[in-house]
Amino acid sequence: MELPFAESWKIKMVEPIRKSTREERERWLKEADYNVFMLRADQVYIDCLTDSGTGAMSDRQWAAMMTGDESYAGARSFYELKDTITRITGFEYVIPTHQGRAAENVLFSHLVKNGDIVPGNSHFDTTKGHIESRKAFAVDCTVDEAKNTQLEIPFKGNVDLNKLENVLAKDSDKIPFIIVTITNNTAGGQPVSMENLRGVRKLADKYGKRVVFDSARFAENAYFIKTREPEFKDATIKEICREMFSLADIMTMSSKKDGLVNMGGFIATRWEDIYEGAKRFVIPFEGFLTYGGMNGRDMAALAVGLDENTEFEMLETRIKQVEYLAAKLDEYGIPYQRPVGGHALFIDADKVLDRVPKEEFPAQRLTIELYREAGVRGCEIGYLLADRDPVTRENRFDGNDFLRLCICRRTYTDNHMNVIAAALKNVYDRRHEVTRGVRIKWEAELMRHFTVKLEPLG
Ligand code: F0G
Repeated sequence: MELPFAESWKIKMVEPIRKSTREERERWLKEADYNVFMLRADQVYIDCLTDSGTGAMSDRQWAAMMTGDESYAGARSFYELKDTITRITGFEYVIPTHQGRAAENVLFSHLVKNGDIVPGNSHFDTTKGHIESRKAFAVDCTVDEAKNTQLEIPFKGNVDLNKLENVLAKDSDKIPFIIVTITNNTAGGQPVSMENLRGVRKLADKYGKRVVFDSARFAENAYFIKTREPEFKDATIKEICREMFSLADIMTMSSKKDGLVNMGGFIATRWEDIYEGAKRFVIPFEGFLTYGGMNGRDMAALAVGLDENTEFEMLETRIKQVEYLAAKLDEYGIPYQRPVGGHALFIDADKVLDRVPKEEFPAQRLTIELYREAGVRGCEIGYLLADRDPVTRENRFDGNDFLRLCICRRTYTDNHMNVIAAALKNVYDRRHEVTRGVRIKWEAELMRHFTVKLEPLG
């Protein structure tokens, strides 16, 4: 008999979690103004809000923390981190920051100015926020196929090179750089192929532009390149990473994802002028150049995390768990962005709650219903997160409306996946009873989904 697949690690430390009653959850939802970001984590049974900073560190990472160097300047832990990043990416200049959005803030303070245009593939909300808050514009050039959730293509996160070239040809003088998000979170954790990254590089060279990779889930992207792009089937993940980053000039990183740590980020680049420019902003915003908002011990753990997560077995274990949950949803007929991505399932809320008008935010309603059902916390990645158009102030309904269920790295077991799937099935079975969504009581101007106050309708 062939041996079944199993995790490439065993568990050394556990943390209790607690179930709740439906009555408790009803009360907590009301107190949270129907925004799951406002719940206390103790009120959540299985937390799929995000895969950001929520994973479990390895014994090697915890061991590295004990030897962290906390020197203000020139810490050994910084140099260990820098050498690891250089080895994996080829980038020589490294600036640590406290998380990914801080890397964006530092880099964009140097590169983005009023009236600029930054083309890319589904800019993440903090990325878009940091562009739009500088009165610049994020232009989405993702392939149209990404919007069709039922279409199965291997690289749904790709940049549409025709769209990109149109923007470059029309507004070249306003474009400081092109940004490619690997994997494409907003489109469903969908990967970008090496072929597409090469195409972006070619266009960037033609128009004399630099390329930034928003690299939060770069290792998962490399896994998909290995398993879906025949040219790379025999390459190691580390070889694929080197090749991917050879096509970029700069990376911003949220280490809370593929760095396997709970907090941290960095900028890395091959260009001295970028380093010199960004340097001016890291000191006032983040801290001195060799810690930029991170503890020495956290940089030490990150160096180990980056190394571990660029090994095939670690990524295979993770992505197979996401696929396990997806297979359950297939069994129940629940529609999600296909094929399943690297870090999460993106449930197609428009298709599930098809009687809820889009003006009433179906994915947010679905998020609420899932929490109500079983204390499983997902997150809306849809019309609320899309914010309003900065010029017209209208809601943006042109993207997808997803309930995202993130799977934390090395945290939950397949039994937890079974609970999530059953809870979703119960909500799905009573979907026709849900005809109304939610109304906004209060919202912030930018990145409103974190703090929005809502009221359920019906
Ligand atoms: N880029 C991408 C693609 C992201 O997914 C995130 C964060 C960031 C940048 C910002 O990094 O959180 O360290 O400041 N994504 C989290 C999520 C929050 O839930 O998807 P950060």
